[in-house]
Amino acid sequence: MMGLLAAAETGPARAAPPVLRGSVPLLGVLPALARNPLAVFERARPLGDVVRLAVPGRPVFVLADPAHVRRVLQENHANYRRTPFHDQLKSVLGEGLLTSEDPLWHRQRRLLQPAFRAERIRRFVEAMGAAAAALADRWEAAGPGRVLDVSREMSDLALDVVVRCMFGQERRGGDAAISAAVHEAQDWVAGRFWSLAPGWTERLPTPANRRFRRALATLDAALMRIIGERLAAREAGNDLLGMLLAAQGEGAGLDERQVRDEAMTMLMAGHETSAATLTWIWHLLACHPPVADAVRDEAARVFGSQARPDPEGLGRLDLTRAVIEEAMRLYPPAAWFGRLAAGSDRIAGHEIPAGAIMVLSPWLVQRDPRLWPDPDRFDPARFAPGTRVAPYTYFPFGGGPRTCIGNHFAMTEMLVALSVLAPRFRLHHTGDGSVRPELLVTLRPGGGLPMRAEPRTEAC
Ligand code: HEM
Repeated sequence: MMGLLAAAETGPARAAPPVLRGSVPLLGVLPALARNPLAVFERARPLGDVVRLAVPGRPVFVLADPAHVRRVLQENHANYRRTPFHDQLKSVLGEGLLTSEDPLWHRQRRLLQPAFRAERIRRFVEAMGAAAAALADRWEAAGPGRVLDVSREMSDLALDVVVRCMFGQERRGGDAAISAAVHEAQDWVAGRFWSLAPGWTERLPTPANRRFRRALATLDAALMRIIGERLAAREAGNDLLGMLLAAQGEGAGLDERQVRDEAMTMLMAGHETSAATLTWIWHLLACHPPVADAVRDEAARVFGSQARPDPEGLGRLDLTRAVIEEAMRLYPPAAWFGRLAAGSDRIAGHEIPAGAIMVLSPWLVQRDPRLWPDPDRFDPARFAPGTRVAPYTYFPFGGGPRTCIGNHFAMTEMLVALSVLAPRFRLHHTGDGSVRPELLVTLRPGGGLPMRAEPRTEAC
């Protein structure tokens, strides 16, 4: 418990931090990390708040104390840079906001930030509602009792939302191919992260590499088509792509490649994360029917018989918001992310050498029993209005200057989706409801989440 929530220490160096060793000679915990990184972080936790993982190559540290997370993300953020993982992401995202560094990152963040302010996100509520209503109509048309893979359904919904709001496009037949390509690209990136294979092996003509290249070509073609159509129409539009194109026209230094990279970043970062959270929410609501009923009642109370939510009403959905926040505590979509120490630092008295990878894991911290009593229990009351959450005990959107730019967008789209779908359907597990979280780039139920969507017939 020592040091939890305490300021990072600056005194003399202490003994080297404890090390989590693996059973494989030379490789240490690397094979275990490749299989299940969250299980490795959990094994590290009892050893201390700063633990080194034995892996070949470079030192890797897992941080379990919120004060140390804050040190890396906020207080000393200039020392902590993008990791080799981000270099892998560059194969897909190029030099977009998620992967770039100063000065490119700084300029891009300043350019894009206004589009993501809460007051600007309000104008997307209608498009978000239309996407959710279209999904509800499809479920209704499929008939009661049909088994859906909710994980896939939420991906389709979130993709539809991002395409409508960011690119001003209605859903099209090609979306299934795009969705499949997004999954393929993610699997490839996730599969390479803890891999020992040197960078050049990504160019070998292996089946996985070939599938990845095909997926990337599909994504690129879809984006370039949308960008091309917009340029041909000679209208910037009021959406994110419109902003990017307007900035390009105003000579802000954005070339076509950068427009593509930012658009691809929004498509990928703005889609799977919200989809993962919504998926977990349906799982949790099915395990807690009274909460599902209360969410339904809240939407009905605030929006009445109105088919689509409005921005004012969303602000009154206290319970639904708490459910979303609690779901992101238990199942943070970005279950961990990393930083590379550019120079040395000292954390909890331990020397952190330049070149070290720092592991920051919302999964680990947000399920720490020292910070969250009975941490595995789903309890939205933890986020009831007026409750205070200590800094960095909860950081599903990251923190510091590189905090998620899409947090208001994500919260709005999830509130909208739940207030459209929860009054119309109750979702049931098809089996006993047990799920196994699986971490690719986002945390998802392994093997999908088969559920039945039953129309709600009872009066609200
Ligand atoms: C539940 C939904 C979401 C979660 C949990 C989430 C989580 C995160 C996290 C943890 C980071 C920081 C990563 C780091 O520090 O290394 C991040 C960054 C980012 N997110 Fe999100 N995100 C979500 C939704 C979105 C949406 C909807 C968009 C866009 C429409 C988006 C775009 C981005 C971008 C561009 C960055 C990089 C920001 C930068 O480095 O300046 N995210 N997100």
